[in-house]
Amino acid sequence: MTTERSEAETVAYTVENRIAWVRFNRPEKRNCMSPKLNRQMMRVLDELEFRDDVGVLVLTGEGSAWSAGMDLKEYFRETEAQGLGATRQAQRESYGWWRRLRWYQKPTVAMVNGWCFGGGYGPLFSCDLAFASDDATFGLSEINWGILPGGGASKVVVDLMPLRQALYHAMMGENIDGRTAAEWGLVNESVPADQLKARVTAVCEVLLEKNPIALKATKDAIRRVKEMTYDNAEDYLVRAQEAANSFDNDGRKEGIRQFIDEKSYKPGLGAYDKSRHTQ
Ligand code: COA
Repeated sequence: MTTERSEAETVAYTVENRIAWVRFNRPEKRNCMSPKLNRQMMRVLDELEFRDDVGVLVLTGEGSAWSAGMDLKEYFRETEAQGLGATRQAQRESYGWWRRLRWYQKPTVAMVNGWCFGGGYGPLFSCDLAFASDDATFGLSEINWGILPGGGASKVVVDLMPLRQALYHAMMGENIDGRTAAEWGLVNESVPADQLKARVTAVCEVLLEKNPIALKATKDAIRRVKEMTYDNAEDYLVRAQEAANSFDNDGRKEGIRQFIDEKSYKPGLGAYDKSRHTQ
């Protein structure tokens, strides 16, 4: 397969046991993000977001890369050659699907199987959770080819890493492996490559047991309150809680009932049986 891969083929996915496995699918280009891939990814996210048979979305890469960042040829050089309008459109298309993923209806997990560079930090941050293989490679390579880490990448490292590490990472252009990425806060955990899929599947299975309305409200709340004062967060959370209840008050009541009346589970040790109420 060459650069002539069609737009539809730049992203692949399968749905198995309520987990959507979405793959950057340009392995021959180390899954770098071209305008075609960015448009196709938005279509795939659209298609999966409200499907009843999808409870969690995993974003991973085909071949040796998760994503080698923006496509230096198709995203930068070729769109810039077409002028400012084309450049802005390409930015909207990439930033657009990353934003869509940040606020996705379903919980999302990045499964970082290999190279993850530059612009790849956008979708990495968009995923709620992230797991890497020990031998994955992360880098803000921008400094190595003469630009600053744009497309949100600078913001991502400042949000996720301690400031000294963020500055070192952005200024030195040195790569880190999955273990260091976990130590520095870029991902939740790093595991040996042959255990990565099993670990991500186990995490997804836990998420699938939770009340989906509560999960969406929770992930949004955590992202929103990060930038609020304590008082603003307290107020926001009262309102977010009430809004979630109005979507699914029965779920919450059932959770309380199974614990207090039925004594069939303990919320401190696991989730209530959500199959026993209708939403
Ligand atoms: N943009 C455009 N093309 C890219 C690319 C990118 N970000 N990353 C990889 N490719 C292309 C290469 O040009 C090459 O194309 P070709 O087969 O037509 O020559 C192909 O993908 C394979 O890449 P190659 O460099 O041969 O693979 P590798 O496994 O030896 O090295 C990397 C992998 C990721 C280390 C290397 O490709 C690289 O440094 N990519 C750029 C990473 C980067 O700086 N990204 C930040 C962008 S914001």
